Amino acid sequence: MMRVFPLLLAAVFTMARASAATPAKPPGKDERLRLAGEVFKIFEAKCADCHGAHLPKPKGKFGYVLDLKRVSENQKYIVGGDPKESELFQMVKNDEMPGEDADVPPLTPEEKKTVEAWVLAGAPHELPAGVSATPAAPETRQEPKVSFLRRVANWLGKFHPVSTHFPVALLLTAVLAEAIAWWLRREEWMLLVRFLTVLGALSSVPTTVLGWLSNFPTVSGSELATIYRFHQILGTATSVWALVCATLVCIAECEEGSLARRRFRGSLLLGAFLIGIVGFLGGALNAGGIGHYKF
Ligand code: HEC
Repeated sequence: MMRVFPLLLAAVFTMARASAATPAKPPGKDERLRLAGEVFKIFEAKCADCHGAHLPKPKGKFGYVLDLKRVSENQKYIVGGDPKESELFQMVKNDEMPGEDADVPPLTPEEKKTVEAWVLAGAPHELPAGVSATPAAPETRQEPKVSFLRRVANWLGKFHPVSTHFPVALLLTAVLAEAIAWWLRREEWMLLVRFLTVLGALSSVPTTVLGWLSNFPTVSGSELATIYRFHQILGTATSVWALVCATLVCIAECEEGSLARRRFRGSLLLGAFLIGIVGFLGGALNAGGIGHYKF
């Protein structure tokens, strides 16, 4: 008994010292790794939809939430060791982020504690093995799987925007020429319209094919994904419509006022209208959303 007592005392003393020392002692390397890994997973689940690097237009112009190094170095977001001064933590704590319109729920109290502990630990960015390799950024996840053919298609698809200029300009010039033809009632102008329309319609076919080859990155359900789908369907329909116009203009004899000519003229105007809409949507895709014509 007399031999056990000092041992017991020593054990109690060590435990007490350990527990008293923990809060003051900076977390060890393992703990820092763990915190960084946890926070990475939280951000991946709850922030990356709107702030991921894969987005062409991230929300709030903040598109690197999974780049913990960059996040922690941005004093505007994180002040290492000081959760009160860390705007990002405050937004998360007060449920401002992820916002009310997010598809994901706010952070649980435990998750908030983890983020706070991470900030207190100086916002370490080194991740434990395996975490950064989880399906984080889509580009790192998909890169190895992209087949050669897909890459060729993606590359060819890059020429879609530039190739649209030909059919668009030709068909819109056809509208102008048709107006002059109507005004002057001259056969030469009607022949010119025929030439422009046929060439415009034919050149719209490769443009449409290039468009289908291209691989525009969108997050399903996002505004861009909707714009993209409309652009794709309407664009294809417009190309088909241009071919209809080309057929009609070939059937229509060059005689002003004939029924066939008027039918063609109406179709061409409708085609021009469709081109306008498709072009507008295409511009929105490039700009990252509707509103690109705001003054
Ligand atoms: C549903 C989309 C969405 C989600 C999910 C989301 N955010 Fe945001 N975030 C926004 C929007 C929109 C803004 C811009 C708000 C503004 O400027 O008024 C923003 C702005 C921010 C900003 C300020 C950017 C700046 O420099 O002005 C930070 C920091 C931020 N978010 C962090 C986060 C974090 C951390 C998460 C995850 C816990 C998150 N957000 C989840 C939509 C989202």
